[in-house]
Formats: sequence, structure tokens, C-alpha cells
Amino acid sequence: MKGYLGLFLLCGLALAQQPEPYKDPSLPPHERALDLLGRMYLDEKIAQMWQPIPDEVRVDGKLDPNEAREVVALRGAGSFLSLSGDDTVALQEIARKETRLGIPLLFGIDAIHGHAFFPGGTVFPMPLALSTSWNPELIQETAMLTARELRASGVHWNFAPILDVARDPRFGRVVEGFGEDPYLTAVLGQAAIRGYQTPQDGLWVMATAKHFTGYSETVGGRDYSPADISERTLQEVFLPPFKAAVGAKVSSVMTSFNEIGGVPMTANQALIRDYLKAVYGFGGIVVSDYASVRMLQDTQFVAQDLREAARLALAAGVDVEMTSEAYINNLAALVRDGVVPEEWIDQAVLRILTAKFALGLFEDPYRGYDLSQIPDPAGAELALRAARQAIVLLENDGTLPVSPEGQIAVIGPLADSHQDQLGGWTGEQPRNSVVTYLDGIRAMAPAGVRVEFARGSDVLGEVDEIARAVKLASESDLAVLVVGESANMSSEPNSRSEIDLPGIQPELVRQVIATGTPTVVVVQSGRPLVFGDEVKGAAAVLWTAFSGQQGGTALAEILLGQVNPSAKLTMTFPRALGQIPLRYWHHPQKNWDHETYGQRGQRYIDLEDEPAYPFGYGLSYTTFKYSGIEVEVLPPDRVRVSFNVTNSGTRSGNEIAQVYLVDELGSHTPWSQKLVRFARMDLEPGETRPVSFDLGIDDLAAWNGMERVLEPGSFQVMVGSSSTDTPLKRRFSVSTTR
Ligand code: NOJ
Repeated sequence: MKGYLGLFLLCGLALAQQPEPYKDPSLPPHERALDLLGRMYLDEKIAQMWQPIPDEVRVDGKLDPNEAREVVALRGAGSFLSLSGDDTVALQEIARKETRLGIPLLFGIDAIHGHAFFPGGTVFPMPLALSTSWNPELIQETAMLTARELRASGVHWNFAPILDVARDPRFGRVVEGFGEDPYLTAVLGQAAIRGYQTPQDGLWVMATAKHFTGYSETVGGRDYSPADISERTLQEVFLPPFKAAVGAKVSSVMTSFNEIGGVPMTANQALIRDYLKAVYGFGGIVVSDYASVRMLQDTQFVAQDLREAARLALAAGVDVEMTSEAYINNLAALVRDGVVPEEWIDQAVLRILTAKFALGLFEDPYRGYDLSQIPDPAGAELALRAARQAIVLLENDGTLPVSPEGQIAVIGPLADSHQDQLGGWTGEQPRNSVVTYLDGIRAMAPAGVRVEFARGSDVLGEVDEIARAVKLASESDLAVLVVGESANMSSEPNSRSEIDLPGIQPELVRQVIATGTPTVVVVQSGRPLVFGDEVKGAAAVLWTAFSGQQGGTALAEILLGQVNPSAKLTMTFPRALGQIPLRYWHHPQKNWDHETYGQRGQRYIDLEDEPAYPFGYGLSYTTFKYSGIEVEVLPPDRVRVSFNVTNSGTRSGNEIAQVYLVDELGSHTPWSQKLVRFARMDLEPGETRPVSFDLGIDDLAAWNGMERVLEPGSFQVMVGSSSTDTPLKRRFSVSTTR
């Protein structure tokens, strides 16, 4: 007996010395998560699936220790939304020290163009502006810097990038995405994901591909509107960027607020559990968009109460409920009543815990925390590089670049508005962290040149100071007018029914141009705008979708020719509001492309078909020539496209060469053209760059009603500098079906 006891004690001792597997950092995250899951009570698991908002732990805007204990220690929340800085440390302490298992918290935030809610954080151009760079490396770099600032402030989870393909410029959220093309959105989205998630000194943040899916297929451009999307449009437009994101190993996906064909996305089992997770193999966390689980009951009316809403969202495969409390208040009873299997909860919690282990939070949840690292030392320089590539030159009568003399009049409501220049999803930023357009022009004007400012009007037309602005312009040698939309006229949920220059700005522009002083019009807006005749007669027109904290320096450099503009549009600019939806590709349509009636068919009796500015368009101070196209079909599965780009002008410049594909015959009507590749390149005057791309089956394939397949037939490759300027064209055909 004594011997047995001795053996028993020895075993006990040996066991006590073995740490629990979940505490062993040498084991893979998934294994540790499985072990920890096995030690958790049902209530603890369910609490991990709840992500409260800061108000839950604040009183009078300040973190309240009692509320914090209630939410973290008693209720066991697994993550928080929109918190950064010292509050994260205080809450993390409670999670680590005052809960049974010490599971660390995840902190998530919307840092969609830099850590812009954090005072002094680096603020890059808005995503739509960044997309006009067509520069995945640049976007990856901005995301890496954002990740460093996030981790320095205790945040591990970024609710970005936005992969909603733009469909309607009235929709305020087009400024948050990468434009109207699914392929470009996929490529730039992958770059952002790589940037957020690449470990830097072992630190990274989870990226979120959002909003899954169909969110931007609005009705009338209105936010949160229902969507009705055909299977083909889903497969060709909305899903590819998410498929690419899963391919880039994105850590989380956020559901969207909309329904598709009557099924709210947060309850869409077919698309989340059975497609995103089962077919694409997405292994990360699916998070609801804000209170979209509650919306199933109180807005979309598919659930009679929150218990039913919780059941629907869990069945759909939503792992984390943001804000609302349908899960935390109902899931335990649903399991006990046998309505939902505990296995579904285990699957969700496994994903959450695996992420926490992968991020290293169990070892040291504060690693990298250092508020003195915000802004990142490289922030200002990178924000400047980004801004230089995020301003599109739309018109130029040769005035630009300019060597100013005498006096420059800087005019307009957005010339010196530092918050507006930063765009949406931005907190209050210190004035001195932003170089406004006026600041930039003042700082860079050549010695002896005076720079004077007149606002002219406010954005919405409540202030009329046009007369003063006109007087200033007429006394000056050059006028730079900065007009457009304020930051709060786009981003969630700010849709517009008109997409013109708001207020009395058209009149301001008209009258300044009428002075005869050469006038450069700079438009800053969260969407393509329709200009009336007001910009006619302008010496030059530039556009940016919010250029960020260094936009002023970048603009001045462009005006003076120190930087050659290179950005190109990623959304079509319509001629008139009635023309939308309008994008660079379309399905075939009678009397559109053919000269059936002796003249080119026109869609409206009162409007030309062509957009004001097409997708892919943007001017440079130099010119580029395309030559030497060759297309080789390389069996079994590649097509090589080669061509040359030459800088045929007199300045060094940067060209974005674009390759489009036309499928000339399909079992289903093909797109008129689709972007399949692009390349940015710096070219010195006279320099020629050979470019070569391999297209694969996925590029040539189309949705045939059941699946994406490559159908035999002929294709045309078109190469050039925009979607409508493709001087190189070459046909080829494929004979196999794959
Ligand atoms: C709602 C927005 O749609 C989403 O993009 C964002 O991440 C969440 N709110 C959290 O702020």
C-alpha cells in the first residue's frame, strides 16, 4: 500500500512539473488551442466569442475599473473593439490575472489608412487614393508601418483591408476600397494583408478582409441597402478578392451588413460556412460587422428574438459577435436545449484561441507596447512617398509643371483644412502633424514668390467669400484652387445623391478661372465627381481621394515638377449622374460596340457614352510609347504576353502599363475587357523597358453558370496606358477545355 502511494505521489510530482500543453510555446498554436479548449467551461468559451465596444468599460469617457472587471473578469469577454493605448494594458492585466485561465484579450481597430484614430499616428492617403498608385509594394509598406504603430499601442487586429469592389460612386464607402476592378482589388488587398501580417521582429497584426460580401452592390448608392446579386456577378466581381485574401492567409473576415437575395450575410450559411470556410478553406476568424447579429432581429426581421439571431449567425459560421450580445446571452441555453451543437462553439473558439497563440499573446501580450514609437520614425517619409503616387493629373494645357513668379493665390475650402485632407476613419489629429496644401505650397514656393490664401467659400456653401478670392486671383500670377468634399461626405455611412462639387464651389471655380489668371484646380473627394462646365478653361485639373498627412508637400512637388505625377484612376469618372452605374467593362449589349445603324450606337439620346475619365487614366509630364507586342501560347497552361514601353518624352517618369483581355466567345456573354496584369515602372527619357507577363488558366477562365472554366476559342490581348488607350492588340486562341 505504502509503495503504491509512493508511486502515486511520484507520478503526481512528475505531472505537476509538466506544464499544461497550452502553456508550452514550443507547440503549434492549433495544438495549444485544442488543449486549452478542453479545459474551458461552456460559458468561458462563449464569452471568447463576444467583442464589446469601449462604452461597456467606460464611465464619462474614461476606463472604469469596476465596469472593466465586470466585462473582462466576470463576463469573460474575449476581445475589444476600438481601444488602443493604456486602456489595453489595464484590461489585459485583468484578463491575465483575474480570470481563471488568464486568456489574453485581443484588441481590434479600424486602421484602414494608417493608425489614424490614434493622436499623432501616421495617416496615409485613403485606400481609394492609395489604389491610384497601382503599387502593391507601396501598399504593403504602408500596412507594415501601420502594423508597427498598432502593436506599439496594444492593438493586434486590424479591420482592414476593404475588398468591396466599387459599383456606384454615390456610395460613401467607395473611398475605403481599391476601386471598381476585382483583380486590382485582389492584388492590392493581398499586398495590404501581407503588410499587416508579416512578422516584424516577431510582431504583426491580424488583417480582416471585409465586407463579406456584396456590400457595395448598393441600391441607389445607399449604405446598408439590400443587394440582389446574380451567381455570376458574385463569382466574377465580389468573391475573387476574398478568394485572393484567403490565398494570402488573411486571419479574419468580416461579414457585411447587406442581405443577398433575402438572406442577410451574417446569417448566410451557404456563403460563409459552406463556401468561405469549406470551399475556400478559410481557417481564421469570421467576425460580424458591428451589431449585424442583432440586426437579424431588429432590422432585417429574419429572427424573432436575439436567441434566434444567435442561432442563425452561429449556424452561418460567424465566430465573433461584435458589439451586440446575442451570443453571450443565448448560446449556452441553445446548447443546453440541444438547438445548436457545442461543436459549433468549439470550432469558433478554436479559431479565436489559435489566433491568440499565433500572435504570441500567451507569452507576452504587451510585447512591442511602446507609445513613444508613435508616430513611427519612418511615418512622415512613407506618407509623403504614398501621397506623391496618390494624386492623379486629369487635365494639363501645358501650364504644369510651373516655375512660378510673382504671387500664387491659394484658394478654396480644402486648401488649408488639415482634418479634411486626411479623409474618413480618422480621429482628431494635431495640426502640426499634417502638411496642408497651403503649407506645402508656402514651404516650397521659390524664393521671392509670395503665397496668399483666400478660402472663397466653405464646402457646403454657407460661407460666401468668392469676391475676395476673385480679387486675390486677379492680382496673382497663378491660382491653385483646392475644392471638393469634406472628409465626412464619404466613408460609412455618408452616401450622396449628387456627385457634383458641393455648395457654391462650382461658382467659385468658374469665377476664379474667369479672371484669366492661370488656374490649377485640385479636387479632393471620396468618390469620382461629375464636373460641369466649371472646370473648363482651367490650366490643369488634379484629383485625389484624400492624400493624407503629407499631401501638401506632394502636391507642391507635383506642381513644381519635382515629382512627375504617375497616379491613374481606379474608378471611372462619369459624365453625368444619370450615367451610373458606369465602369470600364460591360457585358455585350445591342448597338453598343457595332456600327449597326451607320453610326456608333449611343445609349442615351442626350449624352455621349464615353465617361469623362476612364478607368486606368492619368497624365504624366512625359509621354510613353508602346511597341512590339508578342503573344505566345505555351502549352499546357500559359500564355506569355510581351511588349515594350518607352519613355518618349523629355522627363523621367513613371508609367503604369495595363494588360486587358477580351474573351471573344463564351458559353455565357463575356466581359468587354478585363484587367489581367499591370506593371509600374520608372523610365528615363528615351529608355525602353521590355515587359513580359504569363497569363494562366485562371486569367482566361470565365464563369459558365456552374464553375469557372477555360472555354476554347479566341481571345484578344490589349495593352496600353489606360482602359481606353490600348494601342497594342493581338489575337490568340486556345483549343483545350479545362
Ligand atoms: C462598421 C463598419 O462597417 C466596419 O467596416 C467596421 O470595421 C466596424 N463598424 C467597426 O468599427
